Amino acid sequence: MKKILIIGGSKGISKEVVKQLSEKGDFCYVISRTAPDFAFNGTHFALNALTDELPAIESLDGLVYGIGTINLKPFNRLNAEDFQNDWQVNVMGAVKIIQHYLPQLKNAEQASIVMFSSVAAQRGMPFHASIGAAKGAVEGLVKSLAAELVPKIRVNAIAPSIVDTPLAAGILRNDTIKENMVAKHPLKRILQPQDVAKTTVFLLGEESNGITGQIFIQDNGLISISN
Ligand SMILES: NC(=O)c1ccc[n+]([C@@H]2O[C@H](COP(=O)([O-])OP(=O)(O)OC[C@H]3O[C@@H](n4cnc5c(N)ncnc54)[C@H](OP(=O)(O)O)[C@@H]3O)[C@@H](O)[C@H]2O)c1
Repeated sequence: MKKILIIGGSKGISKEVVKQLSEKGDFCYVISRTAPDFAFNGTHFALNALTDELPAIESLDGLVYGIGTINLKPFNRLNAEDFQNDWQVNVMGAVKIIQHYLPQLKNAEQASIVMFSSVAAQRGMPFHASIGAAKGAVEGLVKSLAAELVPKIRVNAIAPSIVDTPLAAGILRNDTIKENMVAKHPLKRILQPQDVAKTTVFLLGEESNGITGQIFIQDNGLISISN
């Protein structure tokens, strides 16, 4: 049984990660502001992970940083606060959590950290200047930490296209928009949180031993192929 800390875990991709890890028999430490509305194998801490004091956890084999933003605006309407908020949530939040739990992760025989980037860090997209910049920094952080934390800790990220989660609800706000989004993706579907959770669980487990410093693009083909 592995012990995994999931930042998020009450909604979205990280909720599905908690469910899948629980099914595997792993123990989940979940940190989110609201309590999960489903049964899982582990403990929940009701906290703001960005601002509150973090709980003491004795030992850890893995960490998932499942908080992020989607802040899409034309460049001339993005102000300094937008850039700072995207930076704080996506980059500095991960830095704070990883630094805090690094001793526990270093004590594990082999630990794994998973973060989330976005296709917007890989391919230029209009209105994505702030989130694209922040997720580009996440990818740089992943590569630097992967190099620095060998051989005890593997560090990887997943860069999804749009995923049907509460975070994306404002974009996928009606059936017409959803149909247009399906049509834009070569695999003719929208990612479900379960899809990205499966990749996350793979990256946390021994099945992915030997993989570190990678950014996995999971995009239904959106930026990976042309058709
Ligand atoms: N959804 C997409 O289309 C998409 C696309 C590309 C990349 N991503 C990235 O994938 C990652 C996961 O996204 P998602 O769609 O699953 O997000 P989500 O639906 O917003 O879920 C985020 C989770 O984090 C928790 N959370 C948020 N702020 C928190 C805080 N300050 N302290 C503690 N917990 C907090 C939320 O629970 P509470 O509200 O209960 O705190 C929730 O459990 C993010 O990095 C996102 O940028 C998502």
